[in-house]
Amino acid sequence: MTVIVNIEDLRKHAQRRLPKIFFDYIDGSAFSDTTALRNCEDFNNWCLVQRVLALKGMPDLSCEFLGARHTLPIMLGPVGFLGLYRGRGEILCAEAARQKGVPLCLSTFSIASLATLQREVGGTLQFQLYMDCQRPFVEKLVESVEDAEVETLFYTADTAVTSVRERDVRNGFRAVKHLNPTLLFSMMQRPLWCWDMWQSGIPSVEALANYPEFGSGILEQASNLSGRLDSSITWEDIKWLRKLWKKRLVIKGILNSEDALKAIDHGADAIVVSNHGGRQLDFANSTISILPEIRKAVGKDYCVMIDGGFRRGSEVVIALALGASGVLLGRAYAFGLAADGRLGVEKAIEIFAKEISITMKLMGVSSVDELKQFGDRYIRQR
Ligand SMILES: Cc1cc2nc3c(=O)[nH]c(=O)nc-3n(C[C@H](O)[C@H](O)[C@H](O)COP(=O)(O)O)c2cc1C
Repeated sequence: MTVIVNIEDLRKHAQRRLPKIFFDYIDGSAFSDTTALRNCEDFNNWCLVQRVLALKGMPDLSCEFLGARHTLPIMLGPVGFLGLYRGRGEILCAEAARQKGVPLCLSTFSIASLATLQREVGGTLQFQLYMDCQRPFVEKLVESVEDAEVETLFYTADTAVTSVRERDVRNGFRAVKHLNPTLLFSMMQRPLWCWDMWQSGIPSVEALANYPEFGSGILEQASNLSGRLDSSITWEDIKWLRKLWKKRLVIKGILNSEDALKAIDHGADAIVVSNHGGRQLDFANSTISILPEIRKAVGKDYCVMIDGGFRRGSEVVIALALGASGVLLGRAYAFGLAADGRLGVEKAIEIFAKEISITMKLMGVSSVDELKQFGDRYIRQR
C-alpha cells in the first residue's frame, strides 16, 4: 500500500478501491458543491497564533463534550451505509473508535443494527435519528435505541427533503433499486471490493429485517428509507421527540443562532453546527464561519459540536479556539474505512491526533481545555 500521510491520501486510496457509485456518494455534495467547498475553504480565513518557548511537554488532548471526558476532541459522526464501503463497515468503525477512545454515532441508514454493535463491540453507543413519515415506526426505532442502552440521540434536522447530489443522480444511487448491468459493470471494476462484500455477506439493513415494506436488498431499502423521510417536520415534532426520548438529545444541522436558541428552548442538550457536509442546502454558510456567532448566542457553557470539511488537525484546533466543544468527522473516516477497513479508520483518527498535537505544541497551548477557555488568545482573523 502507498504511504498514507494525510486524509487526502486516504481519499485517493478509497477512490481506487470503491465502485464509482459509492465513492461518488461519499465524496459528492449538493448541486454546485458550493457549500461543501466553502466548508473546506473557510478555515483559511483564520490564522493560528505561533507562540515559542512556552510549553515543555506535549499538549493534553483530552476534553469534555456530550457529558463525558474523551481522549481526543473528535468523534465519528453519523455516516450512512458504512457497510457498503467495507464489509461489516459499522462494526469495523465501532472497533476502531473504541480502540482510539473516541465516540461513534451510528446512522439510521446503517447496515449493522445497534444490537449487533452492542453484541460485537460493546462500549457506549450513540445513535442518529431521521424522522420517518410514520410515527409508529419512529417510536419502535427509539424503543430499540433505548434497549441498546444508547445515552445520546442525535436528531438530524437539515434533511426535511434530500437535496440533489448530481453525481448520485448520474450514477443512479438510491434511484436504482436492483442490480442492473451498469452497476454490475462498475462493481466488477473493483474486484477487491467485490471479494470483501462476497466474504462478509451481501449487505442489507438489519434494523429493517422485520419491515418487508422497505424491500429486501440494500439498494431497494436505501431508496425506500430516503423516500420515507418526513418532509412536514417542524419544531412541534421536536417537542414530541423530546417527550419520547428522555436521555441526552442533540440536534444536528443548526446553522444560525436563532435556530440554536430554538433548539435549547425545545430541550436539546447539545447542538451540532452542521450543513450535512454541504450535501443539503447549496450556497449555505460554511459551518466554521457561523460557529462564532452561534457560540456567542448560546453562551460559553452549552455544548456546541461542529462538523463539515474537517480534513486537518489544524482545522480542529481552529474550531476549538472559535468555541466548538468537539468536532464530528464525516468523510475523513469514511475514506479511511473504504481505504483500509478498521486500520484505515484508526489511521484517520491517528492523523487527526498527531496533527492536533503538533499544531497545539507549536502554538504553546498546554491543553484542549486551555484552548477552549482562552480561544481568542490563540486565533486571529486573516
Ligand atoms: C456518505 C455520507 C453519508 C452521510 N450520512 C449521514 C446520515 O446518515 N445521517 C446524518 O445525520 N448525517 C449524515 N452525513 C453527514 C455527516 O454526518 C456530516 O454532517 C458530514 O459528513 C460532515 O462533513 P464532512 O464529511 O465534510 O466532514 C453523511 C455524510 C456523508 C459524507
